[in-house]
Amino acid sequence: MIRISLGVVPGLLATMMLALPVHAAGDAEAGAQKVATCVACHGQGGVSTNPDYPSLAGQVPGYIGKQLHAFKNGTRVNDVMTGMVAPLSEEDIADIDAYYSAQEPPQRYIGEEEVEAARRGERIYRGGYRPFSIAACMGCHGPGGHGIPPSYPRLSGQQAAYLENQLLAFKSGERQHEIMNPIAFKLSEAQIRDIALYVSALE
Ligand code: HEC
Ligand code: HEC
Repeated sequence: MIRISLGVVPGLLATMMLALPVHAAGDAEAGAQKVATCVACHGQGGVSTNPDYPSLAGQVPGYIGKQLHAFKNGTRVNDVMTGMVAPLSEEDIADIDAYYSAQEPPQRYIGEEEVEAARRGERIYRGGYRPFSIAACMGCHGPGGHGIPPSYPRLSGQQAAYLENQLLAFKSGERQHEIMNPIAFKLSEAQIRDIALYVSALE
């Protein structure tokens, strides 16, 4: 369900997703000692308070490691992150992945004035968009947006502005991924905004 900061949401039924504990190969305690430089942007415990920076807390085990490798080998391009990953060893990456995936993910809320847009986003997230043969997002990212380890990232609790930016980057091809590029290409900018709003506030 989506969480709204003001008022009551009509007709809500919580769908509890039981996540099976999955252990990443790294050492979470060692990882906690290796994220001192990350906190400035990604927040304490990986809960970002700045819409430009993604939260990392509660991400599916394996995904953060995969992204750090992608920044390292240049398949994902971001000047800040390229610099941040340069000194990290394979062991550091595994430990950092284990640390962040073990943290409690944040819960985001939307304002009452955004409910309409979120409902439009919900229809695509759960049902896809037939006219352009777009698959339902929940098929891979889960009905609650919790993701599926290790490849399908958690989207719920994430900063909506970050999700929107990533979908626009997939749409333009600035961020490369064989599954997400064709999906985002067919979505309009308005649809992208609606879905980002919806899924960020899923519980
Ligand atoms: C100066 C700010 C800054 C610092 C410090 C920083 N990051 Fe980032 N990080 C970013 C930005 C901005 C992005 C989004 C990049 C993009 O748009 O592709 C990002 C993205 C990421 C992602 C991808 C998340 C996702 O959902 O795909 C991971 C993982 C990550 N950072 C890990 C780290 C780690 C680990 C550290 C510390 C070693 C770190 N970052 C330090 C700014 C920062
Ligand atoms: C067939 C599976 C599949 C479907 C369907 C799918 N995704 Fe994805 N999505 C992925 C994978 C895999 C990634 C990870 C990409 C990577 O490793 O860089 C991803 C990444 C993302 C990201 C980036 C998250 C981050 O932390 O940077 C967003 C946002 C996203 N998807 C949104 C959506 C939306 C919205 C839809 C529906 C319109 C959707 N996805 C449908 C598989 C899928």
